[in-house]
Amino acid sequence: MAELKERTFIAIKPDGVQRGIIGEVIKRFEMKGFKLVGMKMLHASEDLLMKHYVDLKDRPFFPTLINYMRSGPVVAMVWEGKGVVKTGRVMLGETNPADSKPGTIRGDFCIDVSKNIIHGSDSVESANKEISLWFKDDELVNYSSCAFSWLY
Ligand code: RTP
Ligand code: MG
Repeated sequence: MAELKERTFIAIKPDGVQRGIIGEVIKRFEMKGFKLVGMKMLHASEDLLMKHYVDLKDRPFFPTLINYMRSGPVVAMVWEGKGVVKTGRVMLGETNPADSKPGTIRGDFCIDVSKNIIHGSDSVESANKEISLWFKDDELVNYSSCAFSWLY
């Protein structure tokens, strides 16, 4: 059942790390029922970030975005489960925290679009690209979750 193995790339941005929101983000994805299959903390290189945000390279805020993402370590994660890409985006809220509803991560924990604490893939196709950009195959873990049959 491939649909249960859908994966998304979630990254806690430098402001989310500095503000102590790592645990809260992990908690929300765990409590929802998604399965963590990869996680690491790193200072993302300029090269990696340019590739990650290549679709935005002509936007006026691109240099600011790259500097922001390089301003400290990020926590990169891969989460798995049915509909995780779309549901993950719902859990994050809108790009601009001002448009994000309470109960979403951006709605609850940040204010400004330039410091919106978390990234989530916007489609299954982007997720697959981003996962292979940020993680080597052997950094992703295959295991069965004991919760599986209670979720599906
Ligand atoms: P992300 O890729 O980080 O999950 O965010 P997103 O899909 O919600 O939004 P996207 O359009 O992909 O923008 C990427 C990130 O660029 C910053 N941004 N700044 N100053 C601005 O107007 C502006 N617009 C976007 C945000 O950090 C946004 O998450
Ligand atoms: Mg995006």
